[in-house]
Amino acid sequence: MSSERLDRIRLHGDVPGHVAVIMDGNGRWAAERGLPRHLGHREGMKAVRETIAGAVEAGIQILTLFAFSTENWQRPRQEVSALIRLLELYARREREELVRQGVEVHVLGELDRVDDVTRRAVDSIVAETRGGTALRLNLMISYGGREELIRSARILAERVQRGELRAEDIDEEALEDTLFTRQLPAPDLLIRTSGEYRISNFMLWQLAYTELHITPVYWPDFDREHLFEAILDYQRRDRRFGRVESR
Ligand code: IPE
Ligand code: IPE
Ligand code: MG
Repeated sequence: MSSERLDRIRLHGDVPGHVAVIMDGNGRWAAERGLPRHLGHREGMKAVRETIAGAVEAGIQILTLFAFSTENWQRPRQEVSALIRLLELYARREREELVRQGVEVHVLGELDRVDDVTRRAVDSIVAETRGGTALRLNLMISYGGREELIRSARILAERVQRGELRAEDIDEEALEDTLFTRQLPAPDLLIRTSGEYRISNFMLWQLAYTELHITPVYWPDFDREHLFEAILDYQRRDRRFGRVESR
């Protein structure tokens, strides 16, 4: 598909290697149409498809999507089960298309809180897309940034206790190695939809020097052109990492 924005992105050349997205606004999208919230979540699947296709077109290497947070477990039971069912549906329905596109799916988060049927669907999408080279897709499910860091603290403490690691050797590298995102570079760009200016407990460690792009568009309305717009915005940024000159 030809896109004037995509041409400009390519001309500039500096495509963010890792893009993370807080997919927000499904409930408000539905409410504005007098629909129940779960239909907003369902419509959000289209935006996921669009974003993955756009990421492949733009040459992004890693796409990380925040699908369900630790705090989202506290939503009404019906909404939680609708979201989890949707996840299972997504895993079953999209598997083939993701394999065709060369997308390798990883699921990061505290998955032991998810029921067996959903976990099996998730495990199979991970297994069947293994080896895809066009894009690595991280689906963040039952994920919270604080929980991730607490988990890291425990893993490191246990290593010290077993005598495998000295406390004074705990550095950035050692901590990063215990995160769900170990071996992955930090996101270059974070997109949040629905106009909320907050992080909502997402990737607290990894976002330290990530560029932020906030759009008022509700997630179900987000398409690849919005993704390209975010990348163009990123390409105008001056990333200094605390130094005087940009790198
Ligand atoms: C994002 O949409 C989906 C999840 C958080 C799982 P919301 O459900 O948060 O929609 P709003 O923010 O209420 O509009
Ligand atoms: C963040 O959105 C979580 C996900 C997108 C999965 P929320 O809608 O849960 O965040 P808050 O409540 O607006 O901070
Ligand atoms: Mg929300």
